[in-house]
Amino acid sequence: MTQSTISLTAFRPDHLEGALRLSRQAGWPHRREDWQLALDLSAGFVALDADASTVVGTILMTPYKRDVATVNMVIVDEAARGRGLGRRLMEAIIEQAGLRALRLVATGEGLPLYQKLGFHRTGTIIQHQGMALPVAAPANVRPAESHDIFGILELDRTAFGADRRCLLRTLAEVGQLAVLDRGHGIAGFAASRAFGRGEVIGPIVAANVDDGKALLSFFMTRSEGRFVRVDTAEASQLSAWLSEHGLGQVGDGIAMQRPVAVGSSPSTFTTFALASQAFG
Ligand SMILES: CC(C)(COP(=O)(O)OP(=O)(O)OC[C@H]1O[C@@H](n2cnc3c(N)ncnc32)[C@H](O)[C@@H]1OP(=O)(O)O)[C@@H](O)C(=O)NCCC(=O)NCCS
Repeated sequence: MTQSTISLTAFRPDHLEGALRLSRQAGWPHRREDWQLALDLSAGFVALDADASTVVGTILMTPYKRDVATVNMVIVDEAARGRGLGRRLMEAIIEQAGLRALRLVATGEGLPLYQKLGFHRTGTIIQHQGMALPVAAPANVRPAESHDIFGILELDRTAFGADRRCLLRTLAEVGQLAVLDRGHGIAGFAASRAFGRGEVIGPIVAANVDDGKALLSFFMTRSEGRFVRVDTAEASQLSAWLSEHGLGQVGDGIAMQRPVAVGSSPSTFTTFALASQAFG
């Protein structure tokens, strides 16, 4: 396998099996359905070997309108690494993203590549997972109703800094949304869906850490004894609580952005858990 025999082409559904082989090789937990969801919300490329059928590299970009996109599922076959294919995939996706600010969560392996391409560290993402232990059922959290979607989109836009209506409407279809409602409008929301070995809870958007815990508790009471994953920003201070409730820290990633946002004013609402490392 040499660089000159590898071609990049648009990522299509018939590439999903090849993509799944690569994520398994990398030790990632994604199921075919998780790749399918990512592809439904994204556009990207695969790298094909000379026979034009073996997928040896993948990359996706999930656009949030014209402002922001996340770059995800960046994988190069072990046998093809260290020869510039990761850079080729990244350069292709950067061109496809146009003027959008790009965000990603880097592994240690990807970090040097992203730094060379102008990404800067913005924080640390901690991956928690395990069998959910019993938690007290929270007050004032209820399943979202269809009319809540407008409030949810607005809170998420405030916390994330871009309009993620495609993602959130999709999460409402494939999973469940819940809202924190004290009778004066929505004060926070969370989502849960099947992913990898079990379920993922996120995004979680709330005004403070106690509200974030209440939203988490809503889904954890329903998932007691089952495998749950939560990706949280180190700065959100949820890690100790998650570990106490059965979701130990199993890894971390580096949140990065290109270019770095300047002058963004602090928001009343914070993203306490990501939808996933892929979607932000
Ligand atoms: C990350 C990954 C995609 C990189 O793919 P790759 O094809 O090996 O990358 P490249 O050969 O294009 O190398 C990328 C750049 O990083 C540099 N680099 C790699 N490791 C480095 C290190 N330890 N220190 C400094 N630079 C390093 C390379 O020199 C190269 O720079 P250059 O383009 O200026 O020469 C690949 O290692 C991979 O699939 N890893 C497993 C999955 C993963 O972690 N993906 C990242 C998710 S965020």
